[in-house]
Amino acid sequence: MKAVPLSEFLEDSRKRVNRALSEALAGNDLATDSLYQAMVYSVLNGGKRVRPALVYAAASATGAITRDIDLIACAVELIHAYSLIHDDLPAMDDDDLRRGKPTCHVVFDEATAILAGDGLQALAFEQLGKLDNTEPRLALRLVAILARAAGPAGMVGGQAIDLAAVARNIDLDALENMHCKKTGALISASITLGAMATAQATRDQLAALAIYGEAIGLAFQVQDDILDVESDTETMGKPRGSDLARNKPTYISLLGLKGARDKLKELHDRSLEALSDFDDRAWQLRAIANFIVQRDH
Ligand code: IPE
Ligand code: IPE
Ligand code: MG
Ligand code: MG
Ligand code: MG
Repeated sequence: MKAVPLSEFLEDSRKRVNRALSEALAGNDLATDSLYQAMVYSVLNGGKRVRPALVYAAASATGAITRDIDLIACAVELIHAYSLIHDDLPAMDDDDLRRGKPTCHVVFDEATAILAGDGLQALAFEQLGKLDNTEPRLALRLVAILARAAGPAGMVGGQAIDLAAVARNIDLDALENMHCKKTGALISASITLGAMATAQATRDQLAALAIYGEAIGLAFQVQDDILDVESDTETMGKPRGSDLARNKPTYISLLGLKGARDKLKELHDRSLEALSDFDDRAWQLRAIANFIVQRDH
């Protein structure tokens, strides 16, 4: 039986990860004030905290939430915050609004924003170095999983494909590959990391979670593309129509709005099917899948 509604679980997750994020940032005001301020500005500024919630949900579905799970949730959110700072830079999407506030490079400057992103990436891995109730070989595997998801085979690679695809016609397979890497990889890793870190997940459970993660990771970006067309700047806290303005290939530009919605439904169904052998302890994972396809920002 599910004990609390998803909103309460998301709020608890947010509180836990926000505490860990504040702790991770503390003591990093050693360099220049603006670098530190830029990192704080870009991390402690709201955000849905979906990736940390997935870390917690995957840990709950397979084992328990511990202090080490907080560090992992914090690490994935730090990677995400860094990716958003860089994604908004003039050399990339050149956006000036994020989470309802001016983007990092607008408030500070470009060089500071680049360094803030670099700093957050290093801080992410520092958190994994603090895992002290995880068996060391397992901790190293977790480091490698996060690095791969964040790096050229994952998010960074996807961002490179995204930039190379501006104003070009790419086919559906290429679009899917780009979305899976730039957004899906970190979302999938959040789930795998949460489950593996409990050291209680079975092989079958990890395989099922990989299918769930791939499906909702891609669904997340499909819904992001839909919102770019359908939502509004105020609700999203980022500029509506950014993809269109930059001539980005998206699910909508390739399949139309209806095609994108059909794809979203297919991915949603696939994600829930993947959880069919899990018991009620996976209720948060099921509810987050619903949330991801229904969210309005
Ligand atoms: C936005 O991610 C960037 C994408 C990968 C689509 P989120 O929608 O999770 O952004 P925040 O963290 O809630 O601001
Ligand atoms: C961003 O995709 C993915 C990453 C930040 C890695 P988008 O460029 O679509 O994200 P938004 O719409 O700016 O949040
Ligand atoms: Mg982008
Ligand atoms: Mg963008
Ligand atoms: Mg987008």
